[in-house]
Amino acid sequence: MYKWLKRKNNGILRAGNMEITELADKFRTPLYIINEEIIRENSMLYHKNFKKFYPNYEVIYAGKAFLNQAVLKIIQQENLSLDAVSGGELYAAKKAEFPCRKIYFHGNNKTKEEIILAIKSRVGAIIVDNENELDILIKLLKAYKNKINIQLRITPGVEPETHPSIKTGQFDSKFGFNPYSLDFKGVIEKIKRNPELTLKGIHCHIGSQILDIKYFKKEAVLLVRLFNYLNKTYNLNLIELNLGGGLGMRYNNSQRRPPSIEEYVKNFAGLVKKNIKGALPKILIEPGRSIIGTAGITVYKVGGIKKAHSGRIFVSVDGGMNDNPRVSLYQAKYTPVLVNRKGGKQRKITIAGRLCETGDILIKDTKLPEVKTGDYIVVLGTGAYNHSMSSNYNKLPRPAVILINKNKVDLITKRETYQDLIRRDVIPPRLNNGVRH
Ligand code: LLP
Repeated sequence: MYKWLKRKNNGILRAGNMEITELADKFRTPLYIINEEIIRENSMLYHKNFKKFYPNYEVIYAGKAFLNQAVLKIIQQENLSLDAVSGGELYAAKKAEFPCRKIYFHGNNKTKEEIILAIKSRVGAIIVDNENELDILIKLLKAYKNKINIQLRITPGVEPETHPSIKTGQFDSKFGFNPYSLDFKGVIEKIKRNPELTLKGIHCHIGSQILDIKYFKKEAVLLVRLFNYLNKTYNLNLIELNLGGGLGMRYNNSQRRPPSIEEYVKNFAGLVKKNIKGALPKILIEPGRSIIGTAGITVYKVGGIKKAHSGRIFVSVDGGMNDNPRVSLYQAKYTPVLVNRKGGKQRKITIAGRLCETGDILIKDTKLPEVKTGDYIVVLGTGAYNHSMSSNYNKLPRPAVILINKNKVDLITKRETYQDLIRRDVIPPRLNNGVRH
């Protein structure tokens, strides 16, 4: 269990100094709770270890993990930059007054409008994914008489052990340039011919939720090799090496422990120093999950409890695959904790969501002390890719998010209302006059 979740004598689970039952009664469930201190602690660990092992660095928070206005403020205060992947993420960042020069703009199919927004906003760099994008970018820069920094996203051919849907570094990937193809030479030459572009470096992201350091080591060695080769062969002046994100976290005890932030940073630093030819580049990394994943939990209220004919005990809660689609998408495993009381004989149960799909199971065959209708359960480790991937499936309003820090509690994203659910719907007048056409 997390160190910020504790019980006092009455046995009720607390988040920070507050009883979760009270938070849940007040803000209703399902409820995401984000612990501000953990985000700050993880950010600090990245800074501390880079300062120790490789002081020329930049840590870029991957906004796709979780992005709202309050978290953007925290990220900024913690001196992290931002990886944004869409016009929407850029818009959100600008609204939170996030400095645009610290934004790295990503995406494998950026629209022309998004590229224009990125140019006009003067983002720190655009991570170019493919030649089509490069051509559009050059055209737009000429039209707007503008300049921009770029990094090239490379697909190095590293296949990490993780769920197939979140691997990205393998050759058979929709992301990035194949640096070993003949076309790549043409790409570099095109960049050199167009002074609107400043090619700062190369980028790669091999995948997400990676628990074995060996894949990151492989990535670093391959990328540095390519970095050396490009600088030498094309007489470039690359100075940035962006190693992406991907450091995993532990969702439950059956999983191996991920490398620590220290081990992760230390290995990158060591391998870059060892393999680089020429001046040391700046190392950039883009952590998402390892910053905010363990800072989040979701609170649910228990509804019906039933024993199926198979003997399995289903404990149904008031959320499910709309607030946590990771179980059905990636067969993700989670850890539940009963909030209301501690101890008691453990019973094997399955925690089911409330959506109309058999696949809407939050945790299959887990163990908890006897659970009663009306109890609260928390699911740990929902800070990353839960809120950001939530949906309104079955017309369920998306949950609220609260931010806690010791005794402080703040609502940072409101719960959706029923009105919100139909806000974008339009009834054409011809359907409103009662006549069947
Ligand atoms: N940089 C790039 C270019 C990325 O594509 C990603 C994640 C990251 C950084 C951050 O990766 P992280 O440090 O969070 O692993 N929805 C999936 C994860 C998809 C990740 C996509 N890209 C999940 O829930 O597991």
